[in-house]
Amino acid sequence: MSPSKFALVASLLLASSPIAYGQTFQRLGTCPTFGCVFPPDQADFLAGAYFDVRLEVHAPVNGSEATGNPNPNPNFTFTIAKDGQRGRPTNAATLFGVREPAVETWQFGWYEDLFAQDAKTKSLVNVAGKAYRRVSLNEPGTYTATLTYNNGQKTEARWFVRDIPSRRRAKNVLLFIGDGMTTNMITAARLIAHKSVNGKYQTKMALDSFPILGHQMTHSVDSYITDSANSATALYTGHKSTVNALGVYADSSPDPFDDPKVETIAELFQRYTGGGVGIVSTAFIADATPAAMTAHTRLRALYGQVVNSFLYGQTNWTWTDWKGPDVLFGGGAEQFYPNKNSFQGQDYYKLFAQEGYQVVNNATSLASIDTAKRALGIFSVSNMAKWLDRNVYPANLRGKKSAPNGDGGDALDQPGLKEMTLKGLEVLTKRHRKNGWLMMSEAASIDKMMHVLDYERALGELLELDDTVKAAMQYLEKTGQADDTLVIVTADHGHGFDVAGSVDTKYFDAQSGDRKKRGAVGIYQESGLSQYTVADPSRGADANLVYSSGANFPANWDPRYTLSQGVMQFPDHKEDYRVKKGGPRVPAVNITGFPSGEYFASYVDAPTGILINGTLPVSADQGVHSLTDVPVFSKGPCQELFGGVYGNIDVFYGMAQCLGLSRPGKNGARPPNHGGPPSY
Ligand SMILES: *[C@@H]1O[C@H](CO)[C@@H](O)[C@H](O)[C@H]1NC(C)=O
Ligand SMILES: *[C@@H]1O[C@H](CO)[C@@H](O)[C@H](O)[C@H]1NC(C)=O
Ligand SMILES: *[C@@H]1O[C@H](CO)[C@@H](O)[C@H](O)[C@H]1NC(C)=O
Ligand SMILES: *[C@@H]1O[C@H](CO)[C@@H](O)[C@H](O)[C@H]1NC(C)=O
Ligand SMILES: *[C@@H]1O[C@H](CO)[C@@H](O)[C@H](O)[C@H]1NC(C)=O
Ligand SMILES: *[C@@H]1O[C@H](CO)[C@@H](O)[C@H](O)[C@H]1NC(C)=O
Ligand SMILES: [Zn+2]
Repeated sequence: MSPSKFALVASLLLASSPIAYGQTFQRLGTCPTFGCVFPPDQADFLAGAYFDVRLEVHAPVNGSEATGNPNPNPNFTFTIAKDGQRGRPTNAATLFGVREPAVETWQFGWYEDLFAQDAKTKSLVNVAGKAYRRVSLNEPGTYTATLTYNNGQKTEARWFVRDIPSRRRAKNVLLFIGDGMTTNMITAARLIAHKSVNGKYQTKMALDSFPILGHQMTHSVDSYITDSANSATALYTGHKSTVNALGVYADSSPDPFDDPKVETIAELFQRYTGGGVGIVSTAFIADATPAAMTAHTRLRALYGQVVNSFLYGQTNWTWTDWKGPDVLFGGGAEQFYPNKNSFQGQDYYKLFAQEGYQVVNNATSLASIDTAKRALGIFSVSNMAKWLDRNVYPANLRGKKSAPNGDGGDALDQPGLKEMTLKGLEVLTKRHRKNGWLMMSEAASIDKMMHVLDYERALGELLELDDTVKAAMQYLEKTGQADDTLVIVTADHGHGFDVAGSVDTKYFDAQSGDRKKRGAVGIYQESGLSQYTVADPSRGADANLVYSSGANFPANWDPRYTLSQGVMQFPDHKEDYRVKKGGPRVPAVNITGFPSGEYFASYVDAPTGILINGTLPVSADQGVHSLTDVPVFSKGPCQELFGGVYGNIDVFYGMAQCLGLSRPGKNGARPPNHGGPPSY
């Protein structure tokens, strides 16, 4: 097309469309026009996987988009055409083989920019919408879904049903997620935990032994920085989503449970194969990364409902046939014992037990569970204790009131990621040797400790993940499952972390004034060598300072020469470049005399440190996620699917392909709930 012709077309398009392209504040993500189709343009699908379709027609009442007609016309039509011989548009309900849904109406408000937000001036929008529930596209190919609204306006979505072979190549998938983990963090963890001689490592990380390395791009469907909810959704469903959304595309309606859902790999795997599902995390178990395995809501913070969904499936998601996980291990007792944080105040320990789960609450009990039975293990209130506190500074576990029965006592006998993952693998192996299993194991506090700028704890969590990966691979070898199991280690997003040199903490402490203290940072040749891999006798009198597990953790967490490390955007904080022995760091606090939502450097966090003024909004008390691609390590059947650079959703399509979960067939015909006897 010539430039002049293009300009003409572009101006015609602009004349008939609202102006909300490329804004950071959106009326509704993925919907720049007044006609919205979910799944949106460019969505990919697995043949046979269930999803909902949501249509919305928007009529702005006021604000910059107002047209003078605030009444959405409910007479819209929706057709789907498949490219190729039978390319005629077909009414969607006919194609899906479902009844035509009824029209619903509602209103929502949004801020058009920061000025409107400051002034609390929302633009209002009236909506007429429709939802087609529990449908699937079964014939691979490219489709054009067309919403025709307001007497002839059109929103077209191109949909791609991937042509994926249905032959199952792996019996099991073990998916490790280092939440927030980047290549830079792996590099730093290796440096503090593995000895090198003249620039050559003498040992390496378990991750370093994986044959295939890829990079996934983590962008959301409607923002380039993701959170863990929508990135987990992408990894488990093959659909990108919106910040805070789990297993749905976020629509504009008030009900957080009616958003258009997409089926997760856990649901698909159980529906087709009857195999076992394990969910393990060091976070509170209702947190986004474990939650996205079974929950379908656009609000990740509805933690009670998330836990309910682990057991019963999403109650309002009637068609998944979800039977519960075989293994559910983590923290987050506050959604289990009866209290205001558990769904409808119910006792979920009791409800799980009623469904035949054995319930354990400490590491000792976990070690001796009956691996023939399903197991729920909840080991603390909130997030579990960090590796560094459990192993090096155990006094920090006291006084936290995190006992999993909620009685305000301490949870002193918590397992780590390794103990939970290995026990989970034993259960899955025992119960599902024949049909196979799928486990997601999350090192959650890499992210959580990066958020609070507690780099030592974050790297400790990363090294625990690596140690867990090593032990899990040994277990798979020992039990003869290594050739049948695809092992993936990846992240859901990163943080802008890196190391630029070393810090001489003794010189740092001896200087007065922040500008002088900065002279303690050693760059280039003065970065020197890692002191973390050798125990420092001059500091060794305190046994707590020295930890040598023989498993490639630092021998000394508190050497004189530490790392000059940090993240690229942060709140106000003080920095002294050394391990926080009293427990996880709190870098910024609100102070009396200022609005409670404004944060300042905490002077007890690093009393002798230098003041670093923040670069984030003053409402931030933590660091934030960043843009970086994240690594994907793979080993086992189908490992080759994970090399190269691709989107986060491709991790789902790779796992689904390997497990034989693509079920091509004829559109409108339901794939069978169980694919007959396991095809493996
Ligand atoms: C739209 O109307 C509502 C209700 O009158 C009002 O509160 C809001 O400030 C208006 N928004 C704009 C952008 O004018
Ligand atoms: C929608 O269609 C119905 C039936 O054809 C008609 O009665 C109604 O006036 C239409 N509404 C609008 C807003 O066009
Ligand atoms: C089901 O949806 C209703 C409203 O649509 C909501 O009140 C309820 O909490 C949901 N139930 C669960 C278990 O999520
Ligand atoms: C672990 O849990 C069991 C079962 O509730 C209990 O009997 C035991 O005392 C607990 N052990 C520790 C160390 O807390
Ligand atoms: C800090 O914020 C918390 C939570 O919003 C609030 O409860 C507390 O009162 C605030 N403290 C100060 C000093 O503003
Ligand atoms: C930090 O910011 C404050 C103002 O908020 C300013 O007075 C101070 O000089 C800054 N300090 C540094 C070290 O940049
Ligand atoms: Zn995070």
